Amino acid sequence: MITDTSAPNGAVHDDPIADAKAQEATHNFTFRNATMDDVPALQKMIEESLRALGKDHYTQAELDGSIGWLFGPDTLLLHDQTYFILHPVADPKTVCACGGWSFRRTLYGADTAPGRMPEKRDSRVERASVRAIFTHPGWARRGLGTMMMRYCEAKAREGGFDRLEMGATLSGVALYEKCGYVRSGKKDRVVCPNGEGIRIVHMVKDLAS
Ligand SMILES: CC(C)(COP(=O)(O)OP(=O)(O)OC[C@H]1O[C@@H](n2cnc3c(N)ncnc32)[C@H](O)[C@@H]1OP(=O)(O)O)[C@@H](O)C(=O)NCCC(=O)NCCS
Repeated sequence: MITDTSAPNGAVHDDPIADAKAQEATHNFTFRNATMDDVPALQKMIEESLRALGKDHYTQAELDGSIGWLFGPDTLLLHDQTYFILHPVADPKTVCACGGWSFRRTLYGADTAPGRMPEKRDSRVERASVRAIFTHPGWARRGLGTMMMRYCEAKAREGGFDRLEMGATLSGVALYEKCGYVRSGKKDRVVCPNGEGIRIVHMVKDLAS
């Protein structure tokens, strides 16, 4: 068993397949900042991601009520340059995964979602948030979600934060637990315009110093 000190949480690696996937992902995909020109592609990708990868966790009615209202881009993060796209190295237009972090108080959700709190957090006493991590179903389980999480954690650290939190979808919990996040015990239920409630799980992580 090898302790990978380059992993943000000092993760313990004993899984050669996961390591090979991570190496392949790092070799074939790269990051760029998302811009306002990407919004239509992000909306489409987030919908495709949730409909394919969220269907075991949320009902059809829950997905219908939440996609494009609760789930979608928060354009403040695009302006802040804290939201990223993972794309094939030779094809920057193809959105394989997206995600970000934020120093704003809003914990989750698209521009249209409730709970917008654009005030800045104080890194001395508050956690930054990890926001809206999605992988396109065509690229799922190839390590891109993990690669995005590590990138967002590194960027949040550059931004002065070493403690993170998130409002996780049920379909994201397995990835986040694998990345070292733990449930705080807090939960939300966001009621959508069609009356359906979306369950959200609060998770936290302290980055290794
Ligand atoms: C959650 C999500 C981002 C994961 O993306 P991904 O690129 O497939 O993630 P990775 O390939 O890095 O997966 C890393 C590990 O997380 C866990 N994991 C990821 N997806 C999982 C799933 N559907 N079921 C169980 N475990 C899962 C596994 O341990 C996986 O390792 P393995 O593939 O070696 O078993 C993706 O499934 C998704 O976009 N889901 C729908 C949208 C969503 O809920 N996003 C979260 C918003 S807060």
